[in-house]
Amino acid sequence: MDKSLGQTKQVKVRDSFTSSIGVLAATLGSAVGLGNIWKFPSITGQNGGAAFILVYLVCVLMVGLPVMIAELLIGRRTKSNAVGAFKQLEPKRPWYLIGSFGAIASFLIMAFYTDVAGWVYSYIFKSLNGSLVSTNPSVTSKVFGDFVSNPMASLIWQWVALLVVGIIITAGVSKGIERITKTLMPVLFILLIVCAGRALTLPGAKEGLTFLFNPNFSKITGGVILAAMGLSFFKLSLGMGTMITYGSYMGEGENIPKTAIKVMLADTLVSILAGLAIFPAVFSFGFKPDSGPNLLFITIPTVFASMPFGKVFMVMFFILVSIAATTAMISLLEVPVAYLIEELKWPRRRATLLSIIILALVGVTATLSTSVLADFKIFGKTFFDLYDYLTSNLIMPISGIAVAIYLGWKWGYKRIADEISNHGEVKSQGLIRVYVIILKFIAPVAIALVLLNGLGLFKLK
Ligand code: PHE
Repeated sequence: MDKSLGQTKQVKVRDSFTSSIGVLAATLGSAVGLGNIWKFPSITGQNGGAAFILVYLVCVLMVGLPVMIAELLIGRRTKSNAVGAFKQLEPKRPWYLIGSFGAIASFLIMAFYTDVAGWVYSYIFKSLNGSLVSTNPSVTSKVFGDFVSNPMASLIWQWVALLVVGIIITAGVSKGIERITKTLMPVLFILLIVCAGRALTLPGAKEGLTFLFNPNFSKITGGVILAAMGLSFFKLSLGMGTMITYGSYMGEGENIPKTAIKVMLADTLVSILAGLAIFPAVFSFGFKPDSGPNLLFITIPTVFASMPFGKVFMVMFFILVSIAATTAMISLLEVPVAYLIEELKWPRRRATLLSIIILALVGVTATLSTSVLADFKIFGKTFFDLYDYLTSNLIMPISGIAVAIYLGWKWGYKRIADEISNHGEVKSQGLIRVYVIILKFIAPVAIALVLLNGLGLFKLK
C-alpha cells in the first residue's frame, strides 16, 4: 500500500505529526524531562513553596509561554528546521544565526543530558538487582560515587541512551517521535501518580507537603524571580530550536496558543506531582531535602529502601524518570537531525547516525567530568557544568530575546494575528493584542535581566 503511494507521488510529503493528540504528546514530552524531577520541586521547596509556584506561573505567562508560541509559529509558518526557518524568512539577513545557535546549544545540552539519562537508565537495573537497597545515605552515596567515577561504566550507559534515542529518531517524525511519545507519556503519568500516592500515604508525609507548598512570600526576592524565569525557559525547552522544529511538524489547523497552554499546565502538573512523589517520602524517613544529582541518585534510593515494597516503587520511579529524560532527548536530537536532512539533503538514517556519533564524542567530555577530567576546569567549571552554564545562562536567553524581538517587531501585530489565529479562524482579538505587547516589550526586557544576571553583570538578591 505504502509502496504504491510512493510510486505515484512525485513530491515527497514532509513527515509531520498526524494528530492533535500526537502534537500534544510530543511537545509535552519535550517539556517534561529531568528538570521536572531534580530542578522544579527542590527550587520550589527552597524558595517559598506555593508562593514560588505562583511566581513561576506569572513568569511562564510573561516570558516562557509567549516565546514558546513564537517559536512554534515560526516553525509552522516555514515548515523548516531551526536554521532553515530563518533563512526562509530572512534570506538576506543573518537571523539564521539564531537557529544555528540553537542547534549548537541542543548539542551541548545533549552532551550532559545523555550522561545523566545514562545514570538514570542504569539505576533501573541497579534497583532491580538490589545493589542500591540501603537506608544508609553513605552506602548509596558510595554506589553513586563508584559508578560515576568509573569512566567506562558511565560512558557505556551514555551510549545506550544515545542509541535508544537514535533508534526512535531514525523511525521518523510520525512513526518515531509521535508514536513513542503517545505511548510513553500516559505511562509516565500513571507511574507518577502511583509513586505520589505511595509517598502521600506514608506516616509523616505532611512535613513534605509543608516543605513543598507552605507559602512564604518573604522568600520571593528579585533573584528568585529571575531564577523562575530561567527555569520556565529550561522547562519549556526554549531557545534550543526544539520548539521551532516541532512547530514545523504541526498542521495549519493546530491551535498553537491552546497547545502551548496545555503543555505548560501539564508540565507544571508533572513537576508538582514529582514533588509529591519525592518530598513527603524524604521527610517521612527523616532525610534532608536535596537537589540535583544528589537528590536523584543518593537520597531517593535510601528513601525507597526505607519503605515497604520499596524496591518495586524504586524501579517504577526510575522507569518514569527514564521516560521523562528520553522524550526530552528525542526533541533535542531532532534539532540537528532535521537540519542535516533539510539543509544538506541527507537521508534521516545518516543524519541521525552522524549526530549521535558527534554527540558521543562531545558527550565524553561531560561524562568524564566526574572521573578522569574532574580536575580539568575552564572558567572554574568542569565540562559538564560548563555546558549546563553556557546553555542555560547564555544561549537560551540570547536566542529567546532574539525570537521575541523578531516576531514582535519584524512580524508585528497584523502578521502575528494572522498566523496565531490560523488566518482568522480562531477569534480572540483582545488576547492577541496583549500577546503582541508582551512579546514586544515585556519578554525581551525580562529575559535580558535573566541574561545579565546569569553572566554576573547584574545582581539581584
Ligand atoms: N525541558 C527539558 C527538561 O525539563 C529540558 C530541555 C531543554 C529539553 C531544552 C529540550 C530542550 O528537562
